[in-house]
Amino acid sequence: MRFKQRVALITGAASGIGLATVKQLIAEGATVVGTDINQDELSQVAVDTGSQFIPYYSDAGDITQIEPLMAMIETKLGQLDVLVNNAGIARFANPETVETGNYDLQMNILVKGPVFMVKHATKLLRASSNGSVVNIASVAARMSLSHSCPYGLAKAAIWKFTEDCVVTVPGVRHNAVLPGFIHTPIIEKSYTAAATARILDTVPKIVPAGRMGTAQDIAHAICFLASDEATFINGAHLVVDGGLSRVSPLG
Ligand code: NAI
Repeated sequence: MRFKQRVALITGAASGIGLATVKQLIAEGATVVGTDINQDELSQVAVDTGSQFIPYYSDAGDITQIEPLMAMIETKLGQLDVLVNNAGIARFANPETVETGNYDLQMNILVKGPVFMVKHATKLLRASSNGSVVNIASVAARMSLSHSCPYGLAKAAIWKFTEDCVVTVPGVRHNAVLPGFIHTPIIEKSYTAAATARILDTVPKIVPAGRMGTAQDIAHAICFLASDEATFINGAHLVVDGGLSRVSPLG
């Protein structure tokens, strides 16, 4: 029970990595506040998980919604020990096709929201005996995918922000997880059916682990970094990609 009497806040809690992390944190004793823009799915998570889960409908890209969220946590729960900036979308383009709406949407959800979450969560996190932020970046922060503008840029930015916070926001630990290809609904939401089928077929042949990642693979990494087992880990990035980013085209 690594998270007994701990309170965690996770964005994008209704699906995929967020949902798997909610379930693991709850299984290990935490009370979890989960945000999402998908109200129906978030309500279903509350039904499925019970009283340790507090659903909070909110848009991770709208920073005006953060202060009311923190006020609710302070009033209702009185503490915050873990913040997981996880909410995300992937709307792929390249620099010749990217449009301002798509650019702003992704940068708001993947970078601006997490930055201001840290701003407003720090007071409570610092009061914790093991206050910690885990930001979900991506191997797209390090690998140059042909269509990853501005997704890869945004993920590199949040990774850099994580490292800077070690110095700029002392008293709280800051770590990042960089997932590889993880089979969650974001794949089908982001790629055409043909491209999805190609990914599901090709990735297991390329990745040394021989399979796509699972949401649970990432939840394990997040929970480790947020736990008391990781109190000396600060400013780390944990690549969880089955070895994908170590593969050389030369063999
Ligand atoms: P998912 O699509 O299963 O879950 C994302 C959740 O975020 C959904 O519940 C969605 O409703 C929510 N969300 C989207 N926009 C939101 C907003 N504006 N405000 C609040 N909630 C919002 O996707 P998955 O795979 O679980 O993604 C989680 C994170 O992991 C994302 O940041 C993603 O970029 C990152 N990631 C995922 C990888 C993968 O292969 N699945 C690889 C690398 C990173």
